[in-house]
Amino acid sequence: MKSIAVLSRKGGVGKSTLAMNLAVLAGDATIIDSDPQASCADWDDRRGEGLLPQVVTTPAARVKNVLGKCQSEWVMVDTQPSAEASLIEIATEVDLCVVVLRPGQLELDALGATLAAIRVTQTAAVFCINQAHPSAKLTDLISGLERHHPVGPIIRSRADFPASVAEGLSVTEWNPTGKAATELVDYWSWLKNRYFNV
Ligand SMILES: Nc1ncnc2c1ncn2[C@@H]1O[C@H](COP(=O)(O)OP(=O)(O)O)[C@@H](O)[C@H]1O
Ligand SMILES: [Mg+2]
Repeated sequence: MKSIAVLSRKGGVGKSTLAMNLAVLAGDATIIDSDPQASCADWDDRRGEGLLPQVVTTPAARVKNVLGKCQSEWVMVDTQPSAEASLIEIATEVDLCVVVLRPGQLELDALGATLAAIRVTQTAAVFCINQAHPSAKLTDLISGLERHHPVGPIIRSRADFPASVAEGLSVTEWNPTGKAATELVDYWSWLKNRYFNV
């Protein structure tokens, strides 16, 4: 079992969206939804019966126990824009942390606390730049972030994300040849290859 936590201290950056979409690409996957907002569980309610991923809701303090019982090949842990303690607790239990951020000063300002928590746990981490403007050049941002952790292929602001979530689908299910699907697949291939050799 390979486990990934999707984290950031900021809300609205795309943690839940990424957890759902990566879990669909992963195939044999469970989402542990530890955010009281339960976005992944709501999305699962809109999916057809019996479709993967399986979605389990649990408080952050129970993530360790639920992870221990997961039988799937992959587990994505979705998190709340988190108090430091629960962030550390979850980061300790997973193989990899994906730190999601939108390009913007307020997002960068909030990043320090997330990185400090990950540093405490010494868990491997990568960034996912999400919701970038379709034409934004992000060279300076990427080189700044790479001083801390690797940065994967960029995911840009694409209408397919909210449209597919509303139907209980991933972007790859909704519009497999769209730009959102292409960018997501690129990110997942990069992450799998770099951290899990698959
Ligand atoms: N790459 C993207 N392009 C366009 N909209 C996005 C993208 N990623 C996320 N969103 C939208 O942004 C909003 C917040 O996403 P969400 O996954 O709920 O963030 P978080 O879990 O970090 O609070 C949602 O409406 C979602 O559909
Ligand atoms: Mg969320």
